[in-house]
Amino acid sequence: MKKIAVVGTGYVGLVTGVCLSDIGHHVTCVDIDERKVEKMKQGISPIYEPGLDELMKRNIERGRLHFTTSHEEAFRDAEVIYIAVGTPQKEDGSADLRFVEQAARDIGAHIERDGVVIATKSTVPVGTNEKIRAWIQQHLQRPVRFDIVSNPEFLREGSAIYDMFHGDRIVIGAGNERAAAVIEEVNKPFGIPIFKTDIYSAEMIKYASNAFLATRISFINEIANICEKVGANVEDVAYGMGLDTRIGPQFLRAGIGYGGSCFPKDTKALVQIAGDVDHQFELLEAVIKVNNKQQLKLVEKARSRFGSLRGKRVALLGLAFKPNTDDMRQAASIVIARELLQDGASVAAYDPVATENAKRIIGDEVVYASSVEEALTDADLAMIVTEWEEIKQLPLDLYAKYMKTPIVFDGRNCYPLEEVKKHAIEYHSIGRQSVLTNVVSI
Ligand code: UDX
Repeated sequence: MKKIAVVGTGYVGLVTGVCLSDIGHHVTCVDIDERKVEKMKQGISPIYEPGLDELMKRNIERGRLHFTTSHEEAFRDAEVIYIAVGTPQKEDGSADLRFVEQAARDIGAHIERDGVVIATKSTVPVGTNEKIRAWIQQHLQRPVRFDIVSNPEFLREGSAIYDMFHGDRIVIGAGNERAAAVIEEVNKPFGIPIFKTDIYSAEMIKYASNAFLATRISFINEIANICEKVGANVEDVAYGMGLDTRIGPQFLRAGIGYGGSCFPKDTKALVQIAGDVDHQFELLEAVIKVNNKQQLKLVEKARSRFGSLRGKRVALLGLAFKPNTDDMRQAASIVIARELLQDGASVAAYDPVATENAKRIIGDEVVYASSVEEALTDADLAMIVTEWEEIKQLPLDLYAKYMKTPIVFDGRNCYPLEEVKKHAIEYHSIGRQSVLTNVVSI
């Protein structure tokens, strides 16, 4: 088992560090934020990720998981160092490498052990690992032999721990066999297939994978938009497509577009990376454009249903960019809430866990309800933005019971149409025919 340091305790770094300690490694996570480190030492996770707190506590107790603000303490004796700091988006869409560069400098200043392998988890443009090598080299205090490896992560928020133990593949991009073998050995206990390649290809695999998944989503959303007009049902279309093993059923859920910390940022970064080598990535540009339009689909539907939304009370169900996370980054709810407020509507929003983060981003013009029922009370219309289990399980009777007029715009196709038809609600969803049989007069 190895001595490992992880730089950056955002969701990727923390989940990686905790899971590596769980399979037996001795892991030290380093972060500059003292308050955060104090909390983590007590086993309190700064992010909402199902199962993470228990796993943290278990491995702290076993003495295999440590947290520190000291780079010296973390790096001095490490055999493997993971860089898992953020790569936020710059105004032009490119990745901001400030934190990666700082991490590389800190590593250079403190490593002492010959043969240490530095593995990059952060999503970085092709070629960055070579820059990391140079930054570390420049800051070495003594001659230390080290290797660089690209080891991209494919974790989904909300199921990150499951993905660490059951992922489809581990990609290792290395410049030499020895470095690749070290990272392979670290990951062996997970029992996940390992693919070894060169550093540039590993960096590209990450971007290409996320861009491809985003493309599938924009593709099915465009099909949904056409389905609505020609009278087809996108759920059946996606199912029928997915039966073809060459296509497969995943990532064909039509809705109000993708959000989160990866797809929006990585697609823009890849367009930028292509541009840097004089290639216009037209397909990906279209994917991004389609997604931006799709996020506004519910508002457009509501506008055309009501004429004007001025003075209407809207219940917004779900705020997080997807269920099982409190992450609000690039969530469709942000643009939806802003548009509604701009139209003169009032908004009562409910989310089981993302409310505090939402307040910081959307602000206090929105009323934050503490239950679905509270959000629905006296509403003229409801919009389902995030398909939380709690929202999907909501008995359809409740809309009629609490709302002024039970008119529902479902951005995540939470209910089967057959079920909706049995209830006294008007229902508009994505890529399916509206249910108007129980027309409500407004
Ligand atoms: C994604 C990748 O899946 C993961 O491999 C990568 O490491 C990080 O980015 P994540 O952002 O956590 O993970 O969420 P994911 O479950 O992939 O969903 C991304 C967005 O796409 C969500 O907004 C989701 O609602 C949307 N989505 C997903 C769809 O609209 N339709 C689908 O069929 C699937």
